[in-house]
Amino acid sequence: MTTYETILVETPVDGVGLIRMNRPQALNALNSQITHEIFTAMEMFDRDPSIGCIILTGSDRVFAAGADIKQMLDTTAITMMAGGDFTDWSRMTRIGKPIIAAVSGFALGGGCEIAMMCDMIIASETAQFGQPEINLGILPGAGGTQRLTRAVGKALAMEMCLTDRRLSADEAKHYGLVNAVYPIEVYLNEAIKLGQKVASLSQVAIRLTKDAVNKAFELSLQEGLNYEKRNFYLLFGTEDRTEGMSAFVEKRKPVWKHK
Ligand code: CAA
Repeated sequence: MTTYETILVETPVDGVGLIRMNRPQALNALNSQITHEIFTAMEMFDRDPSIGCIILTGSDRVFAAGADIKQMLDTTAITMMAGGDFTDWSRMTRIGKPIIAAVSGFALGGGCEIAMMCDMIIASETAQFGQPEINLGILPGAGGTQRLTRAVGKALAMEMCLTDRRLSADEAKHYGLVNAVYPIEVYLNEAIKLGQKVASLSQVAIRLTKDAVNKAFELSLQEGLNYEKRNFYLLFGTEDRTEGMSAFVEKRKPVWKHK
C-alpha cells in the first residue's frame, strides 16, 4: 500500500478515484514531492480496473497556487535541464483514463497548468485561473503558453501571460476553459457525478476516445482524421462494441465488459 504525505487518495463509489492535493500551509504549491505523489496515484488508478475516471482536486480555498517558488528559488538552468522536477509532469500525459479537475479558489501558474492537463474542468464559483509567472521574472513552464492559448485563443492568453490578467470562474466558462461552474457547496459532487457518468461507460471506448481527442492538439487535420479512423476501426474488434449495438437494437441497457 502506497502512503502519501501531500495528497489524500479516496475511492468513492461507482468507479471514480479521487486525488486531493493537501499542502494547505503552502496553498498546495506544487513541489517535486506533491507532483510525484499525484502522478504516482494517477498511474495506480490508471492500472486499477475498478476505476473508470480520476478526479484531481484541492480544497475549497485553493486548487493549487503554482509551482513551489521556495523550492525553485535556488534552482539553476543547469539543474532544470539535467532532469529537474518539471520533466516528471509528462507522466500525466500518459494517463489513459479521463481526468477531471475539480477547481475551487486559486488555480495559478502550475495550478492552472495542471488543471489544463486534465481532460475536463469543473469549477466552483470562487475559482480563479491565472498565469502570474511574469511577476517572478519567468514564464509558464508546464504548458501554460501552449494549452492556455489553445483553450482561450491568442489574444486572451497573451494578456494573461504578459500581464497576470486572471479569469473568474464565469469568464473561464465563457472562454471555454472550463466545462461548468457550480456553487462552492456542490462543485465537487458535480465533478464526481460527471466522473461516475464517464466510469459507467465502456472503458475501452472511453480510453480510445480520449486518445483521439487529444491527438487533435498534435496532428494536422488529415493525420488526426486518419488517427481517429484507426481507433474507430479498433473498437469494432471489441466485445463492448457488439454489446453496445446489440443492446440498442434489443432496446435494453448494455452490460459493459470493458474489452
Ligand atoms: N510557492 C510556494 N509557496 C507558496 C506559493 C507558491 N507558489 N503560493 C503561496 N505560497 C505560500 C506563501 O509563501 C505562504 O507561506 P508562509 O505562510 O510560509 O509565508 C502561504 O503559502 C500562504 O500564502 P499567502 O500568505 O501569500 O496567501 P494569500 O491568501 O495572501 O495569497 C496567493 C494567495 C494570491 C495565491 C499568493 O500566495 C500568491 O500570489 N502565490 C503565488 C502565485 C504564483 O506566483 N504562482 C506561480 C508560481 S511559478 C509557476 O507555477 C511556474 C510554472 O509555470 C510551473
